[in-house]
Amino acid sequence: MSVHKETKRITTHTLQEMKNSGEKIAMLTAYDYSMATIVDDAGMDIILVGDSASNVMAGHETTLPITLDQMIYHASSVVRAAKRALVVVDLPFGSYQGNSKEALNSAIRIMKEAGAHAVKMEGGVEIAESVSRILTAGIPVMGHLGLTPQSIYKFGTYTVRAKHEAEAKKLKEDALKLQELGCFGIVLEKIPAKLAAEVSKSLSIPTIGIGAGQHCDGQVLVIHDMLGINKGFKPRFLRQYAELYDVMNGAIKNYVSDIKAKKFPNEKEQY
Ligand code: KIV
Repeated sequence: MSVHKETKRITTHTLQEMKNSGEKIAMLTAYDYSMATIVDDAGMDIILVGDSASNVMAGHETTLPITLDQMIYHASSVVRAAKRALVVVDLPFGSYQGNSKEALNSAIRIMKEAGAHAVKMEGGVEIAESVSRILTAGIPVMGHLGLTPQSIYKFGTYTVRAKHEAEAKKLKEDALKLQELGCFGIVLEKIPAKLAAEVSKSLSIPTIGIGAGQHCDGQVLVIHDMLGINKGFKPRFLRQYAELYDVMNGAIKNYVSDIKAKKFPNEKEQY
C-alpha cells in the first residue's frame, strides 16, 4: 500500500489491536473522492464503500441493482482520497452468490481495479466456500450478519433481525464460522443489543455495529443518514450529527434567487 509520508495507514492488524486494547473502531460510508477526503481527514478508521450507494447515490429502492462496475467506480474514487483509513468495499448482489470462482473474480476486480484494501460480504455458512477462496487469495474479508439488505426480498421488511432464538442461534454460529474462516471483522446490522454484546464478547475479531447497540467493538453509519442529507430517514439507531439537507437546500435557494434578482455575479465576480 502506498501511503502519505507521515500518515500511518490503518490495517486489519491495527483493527485487531484496537479490539484487544478496547479502543472503539469508527467506520463510515463514502462513495466519492470529495466526501471520502473529508471523512479521512476527520480521522475515520474504516471507510466503507457500501452498496448503499445504490440507495443514496443512484436513488434505487434497494441495494440489489448496483453492479460490480459501478462499485469499482465508486471505490476507486474513495481509494484516491483515503490517506489513512482502511477502505472496505461491498461485493454487490449477484457478484458472489453464484459460485466461489465468480466470488473470487469479483473480489480480485475490486482489489485490482479500485485499489481497495478489503471486501465485505453478506451472509454466513451459505457463503463459506466463497469467503474461504477469497481469503486464500490474500484478500481480507469482512463479514456482515443480521439485517443483510441484499436479502430484503427474503426478509420482506427492514425490521430488527434475530429477535427469536432460532435466528439468534444461527447468527452466533455464522459469526463463529466467519471468524474461523479468517474474516478480520464482522458488521452486525439491526439486531438486539444483548445479542450483539454476546457475539462481540465471544469473538476474538472486532464486530462493527449498526443498530446493534453500544457493546460492539465499533460503529458504522451511512454518511448521508448521519449528516442529515436524507431528509425523513430517522430510524431509532441513527444519530444525526448535522442537518445538511436544510443547509444545502437553503444555500442553493439563495443562489437561484440571486440569479433571478440579477445579484449574481456582481462587478467583483467578473473579468
Ligand atoms: O452498504 C452499506 O452501507 C452497509 C452498511 C449499512 C453497513 O453495508
